[in-house]
Amino acid sequence: MNNLLIIFTCILSVAFIFNLLWASSSPSISANWAPNKPHPVVISNFTPNIENIKKVEVKEKKVDGGLIPPTFADLPAPQLQWEQMASAPVARLDGFAIQIKNLFYVFAGYGTIDVVHSHVDVYNFTDDTWVDRFDMPKEMANSHLGMATDGRYIYAISGQCGPQCRGPTAQNFVLDTETKKWNSLPPLPAPRYAPATQLWRGRLHVMGGSKENRHTPGVDHWSLAVKNGKALEKEWLSETPIPRGGPHRACAALDDGIIVIGGQEGDFMAKPGSPIFKCSRRHEVVYTDVYKLDAEMKWKVLPPMPKPDSHIESSWVIVNNSIIIVGGTTEKHPVTRRMILVGEVFQFHLDTEKWSVIGKLPFRCKTTLAAFWEGWLYFTSGQRDKGPDNPQPRKVIGEMWRTKLS
Ligand SMILES: *[C@@H]1O[C@H](CO)[C@@H](O)[C@H](O)[C@H]1NC(C)=O
Ligand SMILES: *[C@@H]1O[C@H](CO)[C@@H](O)[C@H](O)[C@H]1NC(C)=O
Repeated sequence: MNNLLIIFTCILSVAFIFNLLWASSSPSISANWAPNKPHPVVISNFTPNIENIKKVEVKEKKVDGGLIPPTFADLPAPQLQWEQMASAPVARLDGFAIQIKNLFYVFAGYGTIDVVHSHVDVYNFTDDTWVDRFDMPKEMANSHLGMATDGRYIYAISGQCGPQCRGPTAQNFVLDTETKKWNSLPPLPAPRYAPATQLWRGRLHVMGGSKENRHTPGVDHWSLAVKNGKALEKEWLSETPIPRGGPHRACAALDDGIIVIGGQEGDFMAKPGSPIFKCSRRHEVVYTDVYKLDAEMKWKVLPPMPKPDSHIESSWVIVNNSIIIVGGTTEKHPVTRRMILVGEVFQFHLDTEKWSVIGKLPFRCKTTLAAFWEGWLYFTSGQRDKGPDNPQPRKVIGEMWRTKLS
């Protein structure tokens, strides 16, 4: 099946995968992806075997008067002074961004659950303005991409094509930021949603992510030799699998290896039989895990994050031999089972391998797109919370904020 998939276009593979997987599934409860509905939900019937994809049972449940407050997951954090900058031309969730010197290339994303973007917006840190906009290839995924850069070329790997919970593509593209021309790369052996992706010592590495059904974590790890925007090999090479699969992790290239941080197993899936592939909630587990791949292609476990954090694939920057991570999503509320966003800024010191919480965002936000320029930490986009006392996701934003780090 995987070999077949790679020859399909996005649209064909959507129809193929979903018919195959869900022709005989029972209907499920519909999604609460943009949860503006007032009633709390509870998940029961949990089985820890994630391969056995469980439909999430959603039931009404009265929350005992503040026994566990909705904001219980917030960690104590120093205040930072945030300054609001010019908003991006469009709001986006589950997009991706790559910084190359003073320019910030912001790709794709959902505008709403029914509308996805297929273009790039560019922000200039030198004069703090949005300076450019150009199209992506039509076949390129609109969300859940993996991305990496060598400082000129931006590699765009796999991801989801279209709105709601549509299928993924195995196709990969490369952008020359100097000419703004796109080219294609050999397709992945199988499509992935939000795989950890990095360029390291001349090879693109693609790890984890979710498999074709959007929920099952993949542990495969593939690599491809690339140079100046071109593949030097015809096929991806299988490498040592990642210890834990799943989408939405931060993944950074270091001098001596690749670091993979946080993420989750499980994700929303298309409702069986839904002609619009309507998103339907499934069981998810969010992780604190940190792994490092060394030059011998061996995985090492590093100290975990201060709390589970996912949807951070584009929410990190490297500053002064540390990794700074901005926002995300954490585990669901234990009573209400509501989704909870993260409002902290975390720092991991690469020399001491210690985590700390260095500040708070102006609001909790997931899938932030982060950058660092001349002492300023920037973030834009994502989905923010309902307010200081309510960490549930609400509005998809295009706002841009910055704070001076010291
Ligand atoms: C970014 O802004 C600087 C300062 O205004 C300008 O010199 C430069 O040309 C801009 N770059 C782009 C790509 O617009
Ligand atoms: C990075 O290190 C330099 C030199 O030690 C220091 O001046 C600067 O404040 C540091 N920046 C951050 C963001 O920690």
